[in-house]
Amino acid sequence: MQIPNYHTPQKEIACMTIMPTRVMPDMIDDVRGSLLRTPRSLSPKYFYDERGSELFDQICSTPEYYPTRTENRLLAKYAVDIINKTRPDQILELGSGYSTKTRRLFDACETASQSCVYAPLDVCEEVLIESAQKLSEEYEWLGLKPLLGDYHGGLGNLPASTGSHLFVFLGSTIGNFEQAEALDFIKEVYKAMRYGDHLLIGVDRVKENHVLNAAYNDAQGITAEFNLNVLHVLNRELNANFNIDAFTHSAVFNADKERIEMRLISNTNQKVQIDVLDETIQFDRGDDILTEISQKYTHMGIETMLSEANFSITDHYEDEDAYFSLVLASK
Ligand code: SAH
Ligand code: AVI
Repeated sequence: MQIPNYHTPQKEIACMTIMPTRVMPDMIDDVRGSLLRTPRSLSPKYFYDERGSELFDQICSTPEYYPTRTENRLLAKYAVDIINKTRPDQILELGSGYSTKTRRLFDACETASQSCVYAPLDVCEEVLIESAQKLSEEYEWLGLKPLLGDYHGGLGNLPASTGSHLFVFLGSTIGNFEQAEALDFIKEVYKAMRYGDHLLIGVDRVKENHVLNAAYNDAQGITAEFNLNVLHVLNRELNANFNIDAFTHSAVFNADKERIEMRLISNTNQKVQIDVLDETIQFDRGDDILTEISQKYTHMGIETMLSEANFSITDHYEDEDAYFSLVLASK
């Protein structure tokens, strides 16, 4: 008897690795340089192993974390306008994650009969592959070119392609850069673009303290788990022995700097051994590690940053509460 094959064979999806254009420290040197220094800090990119990416995805659905749903609404409302104005042959997304909101742009491409290639760039290979697989099933016409890389390593090695490009940087991930680094990065994006290309960037806005503090301290404790997950990453990757229960999540809006500062605070006096670094760190009760900043911007602050990087602003979309900005700019 012949067994019917109900499943169409899946296309094998592989990521292209993007090599850095500048010398980048490996994880060992990077963590040594940030965690063994005072004040202690860690790069937020270490949040995003497979588990961290899933936890971020869950944060996006919490009632308190307004950025995702606000940006998604803006995209749903303006995506056709954006696609008509940009007519992209390629959409290149920086820090794409699960590409959930980017689907609004693909839907708009369908409405506007615009076929294109999607090149998502991320540090998390598992998420890139899983997302590309799903996208290939949902949008059969969409060309897919997942790129595995660290955008801090520079954008000079992005694969060359012809036609018009729409660079996309959503979720206010620019907020996870120190302000001076954010401007340098936007300049780097500008440099990677050709004249006539566009950038679509989502940026979170300064607003009431209580709204911001709630967004990073959700009642279900998912943000806390996301923050603490970085210690699991260090335990696994650097053979460390962090006791996760001996640290507490903290996220507070620093009104002077207009940014959320997320930390892990030691609950007790403790020593942590990091074998791969051949180091032992002493934490006293109350000592902290800065794990992330999330800078909030004003309407004017966003436009100033883009103008300083030489961009021309095409549209600045915002919701009625001015909680979030979606800006379309061109080179
Ligand atoms: N753009 C998505 C995901 C935002 S979360 C959204 O708006 O919902 C931030 C994403 O950036 C994660 O997927 C993370 O893996 C990725 N990321 C963080 N640091 C990165 C780096 N240095 N280089 C490339 N991707 C990075
Ligand atoms: C990805 N990034 C913009 C998120 C933010 O809001 O800074 C990460 C995050 N951290 C805690 N909650 C969400």
